[in-house]
Amino acid sequence: MNVITKMLCSFLSWIDARFPLTKLWNEHLAKYYAPKNFNFWYFFGSLALLVLVIQIVTGIWLTMNYKPSAEHAFASVEYIMRDVEWGWWIRYMHSTGSSAFFIVIYLHMFRALLYGSFKKPRELLWLTGMFIYLTLMAEAFFGYLLPWGQMSYWAAQVITSLFGAIPVVGEDLALWIRGDYVVSDVTLNRFFSFHVIAMPLVLLGLVFVHIIALHEVGSNNPDGIEIKKHKDANGIPLDGIPFHPYYTVKDIYGVVIFLIVFSLVIFYYPELHGFFLEHANFVPANPLSTPEHIVPAWYFTPYYAILRAIPDKFGGLVAMGFAVILFFFLPWLDRSPVKSIRYRGWFYRIALTAFVISFLFLGWLGMQVATPLYTWLARIFSVIYFLFFLLMPFYTRRDNDKPVPERVTMP
Ligand code: HEM
Repeated sequence: MNVITKMLCSFLSWIDARFPLTKLWNEHLAKYYAPKNFNFWYFFGSLALLVLVIQIVTGIWLTMNYKPSAEHAFASVEYIMRDVEWGWWIRYMHSTGSSAFFIVIYLHMFRALLYGSFKKPRELLWLTGMFIYLTLMAEAFFGYLLPWGQMSYWAAQVITSLFGAIPVVGEDLALWIRGDYVVSDVTLNRFFSFHVIAMPLVLLGLVFVHIIALHEVGSNNPDGIEIKKHKDANGIPLDGIPFHPYYTVKDIYGVVIFLIVFSLVIFYYPELHGFFLEHANFVPANPLSTPEHIVPAWYFTPYYAILRAIPDKFGGLVAMGFAVILFFFLPWLDRSPVKSIRYRGWFYRIALTAFVISFLFLGWLGMQVATPLYTWLARIFSVIYFLFFLLMPFYTRRDNDKPVPERVTMP
């Protein structure tokens, strides 16, 4: 051992005597055994972490020049885009990052539906994930108002007014949320404070809890087999490999692919034809002129389509809330003894396919002008959406599942 290594070792021992650094490193990385058969679906957890960091860092830099007032907000964003050095880059990273966050999260959640990762013993892991999802929606909603463009303003106006449909307390609630009779400077100030501090704090706390819950039960895998069932004499799962270096290195591969696509969008298509930055948002907010066609950001449009599918405003609000809340109950709605879609019968496969198709169609319908035909289509897809959850206890119990192997299989 040379002098420098000796010094580093004694420094580490000094830290370890005061803080469990080596213990944490081993428990969560070097001696954390993950199933050896992860596929690309398992990239999205680490990618979600990456996007979270990108959003926080770019958010801090945006805040240095952004002004949260109705008078200056729009102009301050233009100033960031045109005059602040590299400001356009920071802003496009943040706006593209918000869409990337939802793409990554939807794929991350879909993986759980594929492999039954929400099932016992991962119910709490799933619930923490659902709370993250709700917080992320709130975070995106608050952030969307900040550029103070026409779509920012009117989307916030529509959504906050929705609360007015709640019987008895609705109007007071809407007033309380906005802090004014219409969306105004007061609303912008409070949304700014929620967006830059309250929601990110909650998000970080929840992500911490999410990872702790994950490491308590261990990862699921594409076969849906518990690797802890088969251990060697030292108590190490036979089908497990240390997270570090195997998956740290593999995750870097996912990160590189992600960053290539992310950069392509930022440098060549930052608006992505109005999906990532809407055209109406290049016009400053005008409380006296309602845009012809108000739509929320693409990641909310499936729920927006469900809201519009129901003629009654309050009924629509309830259906929309229900559409999100139902996800929480998945661990208890799914009665199948099998986790992974690889060994499930046709009922679940068909139900999941129908659900995904209806979710995508609802997303598309939520972006269109609500013609009578589209409204009926939205109704049909909403029914399929809800039936996926409500009939789950029946079709998962009766499915002709296949025998599950004892040990994980490699592709
Ligand atoms: C900021 C958002 C999130 C972050 C940073 C995050 C992070 C992670 C990480 C690093 C993993 C382990 C790697 C992997 O399995 O891909 C994981 C697993 C998991 N996450 Fe998340 N997650 C987030 C949101 C969510 C959401 C919204 C849900 C569901 C509603 C969810 C449900 C799960 C489940 C069920 C697993 C275990 C998957 C398995 O073992 O098969 N997560 N998460």
